[in-house]
Amino acid sequence: MDGVTALNERLANARRVTVMTGAGVSAASGVPTFRGADGLWRTFRAEDLATPEAFDRDPLLVWEWYDWRRKLIAECRPNPAHEVLAAWSANAGFTLITQNVDGLHEAAGTRGIIRFHGSIWELRCADACGLAPWQDRRAPLPVLPPRCPGCGGLARPGVVWFGEAIDRGVLMRCGAAVSCDVFLSVGTSSIVYPAAGLAHAARDTGAFTAEINPTATDAAAALDLAIAAPAEKVLPLLRWSALKA
Ligand SMILES: NC(=O)c1ccc[n+]([C@@H]2O[C@H](COP(=O)([O-])OP(=O)(O)OC[C@H]3O[C@@H](n4cnc5c(N)ncnc54)[C@H](O)[C@@H]3O)[C@@H](O)[C@H]2O)c1
Ligand SMILES: [Zn+2]
Repeated sequence: MDGVTALNERLANARRVTVMTGAGVSAASGVPTFRGADGLWRTFRAEDLATPEAFDRDPLLVWEWYDWRRKLIAECRPNPAHEVLAAWSANAGFTLITQNVDGLHEAAGTRGIIRFHGSIWELRCADACGLAPWQDRRAPLPVLPPRCPGCGGLARPGVVWFGEAIDRGVLMRCGAAVSCDVFLSVGTSSIVYPAAGLAHAARDTGAFTAEINPTATDAAAALDLAIAAPAEKVLPLLRWSALKA
């Protein structure tokens, strides 16, 4: 496969490897991407539902969509791409940043994940009453929209919506992780900022940067290498065992 040998040569000399994943890494597990042909729910586009404005306008509609996605994801299992990254995560020099909210990297046993956009399995108070976010893996949820056990107001999904800020702690951890030897951007359309900027930040620190995506993205031109093939086919061909410091 074009590019795999070149990437393996870089990995052979890499102490620090950072991988950023997007929805494409879970496509082979059956989780629909936002921008693929299967990204529509009823007649809505994800971009029109995953926003604070949509939730303010119609929380039940937004929750019906999330409940549908939670039911769908609950049936999905990690694929070989998740498994390779989980094995790499046993190395101290490895960091996984994911934009995915599906929990499949966690299910594969990946350590130390930086969840850029939160988790679909976490809920929090929509009014920020002070109650800490809580886990709820029930799919379907028994009552829609779910309520905050602290104040009785509306609960919301513990994910970052379009137009919302990324957690400061997450950004700081990402800032440290972009300083690496090899940075891989896997299965992301690289449209959504600030996540899309991380590969460029990595290249600015001197990292070798590569994209793995069956459809090369516009961002790929600015990277060192683009491998135009699915994540679940490419990652099992890559070899990395961290060098001793
Ligand atoms: N699984 C999830 O948790 C999930 C699913 C959909 C969207 N989202 C959220 O939506 C936002 C969308 O951005 P995004 O860039 O992650 O997704 P996206 O839907 O915008 O893009 C998906 C990308 O994956 C590529 N792709 C498709 N199949 C692939 C495969 N087998 N291997 C590798 N790449 C493949 C596509 O070409 C596309 O570029 C993210 O912030 C994320 O939080 C999450
Ligand atoms: Zn509350």
